[in-house]
Amino acid sequence: MKTININLPQNGYDIYIGNGIIKQVTKKIKSLDLKKNLFFVVDKNVYELYSSQIDLLIKNYKGKVNLLVVEASEKFKSFKTLELIYKNLLENDYSRDTLLLAIGGGIIGDICGFAAATFSRGIQSVQIPTTLLSTVDSSVGGKTGINFSNTKNIIGTFNQPNFVLIDVNFLKSLSKEELLSGLGEIVKYAFLTNIQFYKYVKKNINEVYSKNPKTFTKIIEETVRFKGDVVISDEKETGNRKMLNLGHTFAHAFEVETKFELKHGQAVIVGIASSLFLSFKIGLISKLKLDELLELIYIFKDEIRIGRINFDNAISIMQRDKKNKDGKIKFVLIKDIGNILIDVEANRDDIIYSLENGIGVFKWK
Ligand SMILES: NC(=O)c1ccc[n+]([C@@H]2O[C@H](COP(=O)([O-])OP(=O)(O)OC[C@H]3O[C@@H](n4cnc5c(N)ncnc54)[C@H](O)[C@@H]3O)[C@@H](O)[C@H]2O)c1
Repeated sequence: MKTININLPQNGYDIYIGNGIIKQVTKKIKSLDLKKNLFFVVDKNVYELYSSQIDLLIKNYKGKVNLLVVEASEKFKSFKTLELIYKNLLENDYSRDTLLLAIGGGIIGDICGFAAATFSRGIQSVQIPTTLLSTVDSSVGGKTGINFSNTKNIIGTFNQPNFVLIDVNFLKSLSKEELLSGLGEIVKYAFLTNIQFYKYVKKNINEVYSKNPKTFTKIIEETVRFKGDVVISDEKETGNRKMLNLGHTFAHAFEVETKFELKHGQAVIVGIASSLFLSFKIGLISKLKLDELLELIYIFKDEIRIGRINFDNAISIMQRDKKNKDGKIKFVLIKDIGNILIDVEANRDDIIYSLENGIGVFKWK
């Protein structure tokens, strides 16, 4: 088992990564002297697939323990699910001395993180991510929240877990679509980190599709370590942490414009392509560098199909992004692998050029 420490000054924690380590969760709770009243919230699909392992955990636990199975979708990332969690906690007499454990993808992780931050003015929590996206990204860093009034993640808070346990064995049941979703964030980290990791990702995309546990472990270790360092340097996203939004300003517009037909991970890859074209258009990189950097993006050119995008609508969506100020769109752009600029503004013509060329890499629907 690998351990990575997120060394935050007040609320640091460990991330454990391994294959088949779910059974060690109660041992970790004991060794870290965490609260002994356990409340598991599990994604319905995950429970259907892994009930024997989860039930065994619960059966063998000597102490108060309950399980709530909930449905995971953006529709259920809502006050309704949050209420269900609060209600179940109360009905089962849980109070402040509770440890809430979330087993599922980013949706369950984000809701449970928020539930833990708010129930009884804050209880302890553990993240056990089960999708590729949640292992490489969302389970680390403490962003929690729910959707409200058709706006994604608009209600939430920063709340770091007490530990994160990543068992790559869960990833064996993911569909190709879910793997591609995780790959969107992995491609992002390939550009953010360093040339060695960029080359590793480029060489090992097929190993991800074939669900090689060793490849999963290596990629998760690299991304989590990198994200951890960024979070340590800027926990509340006032500066440096914004780099983690590479490709996401464009991606969000693509998701909304395609009515979410284009999945998040796919949208991130198209978004990074557009960011690269914008970097080139405003003179941050040469044509030679652009072509070199696009090589990783081209691997996905036949996997992603995108319908026609209305560029005016896309720009309006980007202007409304909650990360902007005064309607000015702020981009994260690339000068080179590991050399990232944040808060870059661009003119309308350059944005349209980037939208057109970024989308142009992929197949039309
Ligand atoms: N907090 C953060 O920093 C952060 C970062 C990125 C994304 N997010 C959030 O994460 C969410 C997306 O997360 P996600 O991609 O994990 O989606 P998800 O939680 O919806 O999971 C995707 C699907 O996979 C299923 N699933 C989960 N684990 C499985 C397994 N082991 N085998 C088979 N199926 C499984 C789920 O039931 C669901 O149908 C979004 O709401 C996004 O806003 C948060």
